[in-house]
Amino acid sequence: MNDLEFESGQFRKELEPSQMLEVLFDYVARISKEKEIDKILMLMADLGRKLIVADRCTLWLLDLVENQLWTKVAHGIPPIRIASDSGIVGYTIRENAPVIINDAYSDSRFNPDVDKKTGYRTRNIIALPVYDGNGEIIGVYQAINKMTGEQAFSQLDLKRLKLAATYSGNALASAIARQEIEDTQKDVIFTMGEAGEMRSKETGYHVKRVAEYSYILALGVGLSKSEAELLRMASPMHDIGKIAIPDAILKKPGKLDEAEFEVMKTHAAVGYQILKNSSRSILKAAATVAYEHHEKWNGKGYPRGISGEAIHIYGRITAIADVFDALGSDRVYKKAWALDKILTLFRDERGQHFDPKIVDTFFDCLDALIAIRDKFIDSHIEDEHMQSVLA
Ligand code: C2E
Ligand code: SIN
Ligand code: SIN
Ligand code: SIN
Ligand code: FE
Ligand code: FE
Repeated sequence: MNDLEFESGQFRKELEPSQMLEVLFDYVARISKEKEIDKILMLMADLGRKLIVADRCTLWLLDLVENQLWTKVAHGIPPIRIASDSGIVGYTIRENAPVIINDAYSDSRFNPDVDKKTGYRTRNIIALPVYDGNGEIIGVYQAINKMTGEQAFSQLDLKRLKLAATYSGNALASAIARQEIEDTQKDVIFTMGEAGEMRSKETGYHVKRVAEYSYILALGVGLSKSEAELLRMASPMHDIGKIAIPDAILKKPGKLDEAEFEVMKTHAAVGYQILKNSSRSILKAAATVAYEHHEKWNGKGYPRGISGEAIHIYGRITAIADVFDALGSDRVYKKAWALDKILTLFRDERGQHFDPKIVDTFFDCLDALIAIRDKFIDSHIEDEHMQSVLA
């Protein structure tokens, strides 16, 4: 409905209580199934608009880093951003209180810039803060222009919008938390990749492949999807301790002597030291993986020489993912092995280096693993770049 219809007097009606409940339950059900922030924002906007018969409704989210509010209004359109202190929405955040304004242009808090740009005429505004589970403000629910004959928002509208915010809040907060985890993960992996790039040849897609192999194996051995996802995020950090290994050893083109290998082996405990103090579950899992990815089922691994199920399942899984990838890739000290030879090693090492059950899973999942290998192929350009860096 646009302004013209509104002017011509085709007012809409308030929802009946039964209609209101129907709309509320319908949207809340859809919102709680949704994992993407963008989609939740759009659903909440729709819900708010219907519930209080507004012309427009927006759910603004606070970006504390940029001091902005942002929202998504439609698929394929980039997010809209405004300064977090601007207009009524900014006022709502500062005061941490809801606002109802029924004559926007006579209110000094209203910023008419948006109207000037769009030619829209804002009459009524209702805005209320939205909170996460800890009572922290995460955004603002804002609606514009009441479309009933009243032409004004009421306390009842505020109650209804609050209801919508309350019932959608959990889904929104967990989508935000999820996004934050993914962003952190990408940052960490990227930073690691960058740090590693100048240090060793194991860069780029190595971390990506080990992540995906670990995920497939984790599901294959029966871990839950969320644990498998945790391991997918954590396993790329298994070799982070290699940042402490001197170039002369890390980049040695030939076989390491005994003393050099002793130094190399410290990367497992060093990685653990780097990661162990975090309380974030991803980094905790990463610490375990860094510490235990070179342990062997038969107890002949390092750094602690623990065996069997004393090695955390994450360590046992990542060990297979890492060796599968290391053998299939060129390294400064060796060429990639043919698949046959790799599979023979896994058969030979079943119950020796590796957990026999996970080796069985490895063979069961082989097609999926090879599909990942063929999808993330290290390019020759990168190879040549590496060679020149290493030369
Ligand atoms: P990486 O290159 O990521 O290799 C990870 C693991 O894959 C190795 O752990 C080993 O279990 C397996 N692997 C890799 N290449 C081979 C191979 O040619 N034959 C066999 N049987 N297994 C292989 P490992 O041995 O504990 O080595 C840990 C890390 O130490 C390696 O990580 C690599 O960075 C370094 N490294 C090991 N050996 C040498 C070497 O001879 N020269 C150099 N420059 N680095 C080495
Ligand atoms: C404001 O909150 O003042 C801006 C309202 C709008 O989006 O038009
Ligand atoms: C990646 O780390 O996933 C890609 C980096 C690359 O291009 O190798
Ligand atoms: C398991 O091995 O299945 C349990 C993980 C652990 O070692 O704590
Ligand atoms: Fe390692
Ligand atoms: Fe590795």
